[in-house]
Amino acid sequence: MKYLLFTIPFLISASALDVASIRSSVGSSDAKFTTHSSTKFYEKYANTLLTQHPVPRNNRTEAVEINVSDSIPTNYDVKDIFPKCESPTTIFDQGSCGGCWALSVAAVTSDRFCQAGVDVVLSPQDLLDCVGGESKGCSGGFTEDGFDYINDEGLRLIECVPFDATDGFCVSGGCADNSKSTDDKKYFTTSWAQYISSDEAKIQSEILENGSVSAVFEVFSDFFLYKSGVYKHVDGDYAGLHAVSLMGWGENDEEGTYWVVKNSWGEDFGEAGYFRVARGLDVNGVNMEGGLTAAKVQV
Ligand SMILES: *[C@@H]1O[C@H](CO)[C@@H](O)[C@H](O)[C@H]1NC(C)=O
Ligand SMILES: *[C@@H]1O[C@H](CO)[C@@H](O)[C@H](O)[C@H]1NC(C)=O
Ligand SMILES: *[C@@H]1O[C@H](CO)[C@@H](O)[C@H](O)[C@H]1NC(C)=O
Repeated sequence: MKYLLFTIPFLISASALDVASIRSSVGSSDAKFTTHSSTKFYEKYANTLLTQHPVPRNNRTEAVEINVSDSIPTNYDVKDIFPKCESPTTIFDQGSCGGCWALSVAAVTSDRFCQAGVDVVLSPQDLLDCVGGESKGCSGGFTEDGFDYINDEGLRLIECVPFDATDGFCVSGGCADNSKSTDDKKYFTTSWAQYISSDEAKIQSEILENGSVSAVFEVFSDFFLYKSGVYKHVDGDYAGLHAVSLMGWGENDEEGTYWVVKNSWGEDFGEAGYFRVARGLDVNGVNMEGGLTAAKVQV
């Protein structure tokens, strides 16, 4: 299945978010997350969520072979393992642009370069402006198309193509005067997009071996009120799809098992721009393990 991610403007209206009722449901449930009462994330991002149109897989995007590691740690977080790299701790704000697919692909690719020893923050704007075909910049796109574009053309540094959260023209050429971007290294390239299995141990092994992976999850409206802790869907309507970066996992007695995920709704969202979500396929309708893509970086 290929995840075509187009925005659906006005999918749900702002009045549909019943803050008091959702907070009450979450508070009286066994969910291990806290909520806030602000509607700001709902108002800002509900209209940037995406819808999914399955189209046939092509042959190069079958799930990549992953051998399960025999030493998967209980807790792991790319940003703790690579504290010297800039990308894992960089949080973007997509604003009113439905470009989560590009932000996720650029973040995952940058994290993977970090893991391979190259500390770069690559430009999501380059993807928004340049990826063609069925992908439409701030109106949505395929995460697969993002990685495939990086395979074909390479991705430039954020300093070369700054992120402005709007659709722009694809500008060719690098920026050779940039300190990290010498004439022979204007572009950073990967393999084609690769599907990652939905199996938990394989996802963990892939992150251990190669770095963060791009994930697409189902947003329900209680997620807009997430403050901290381990999210799972409790109450509120389905709102749309959202591409994010899966960066780690953990577990403890109080909160159970979870994934560590980077969002693109600014540093004010959740746990300083990140959130945690309960592990396990189809946790009350929220499936973080499906639709995972990544690519092998070429260093
Ligand atoms: C996949 O490859 C097979 C054999 O090479 C070919 O017959 C088939 O049409 C391909 N499918 C797609 C979707 O490209
Ligand atoms: C998985 O393990 C098998 C057997 O050791 C090996 O042949 C194969 O190359 C490994 N695959 C990957 C992706 O590491
Ligand atoms: C992950 O790393 C393994 C071992 O180096 C490699 O065989 C595999 O192609 C990598 N996969 C991706 C998606 O980068």
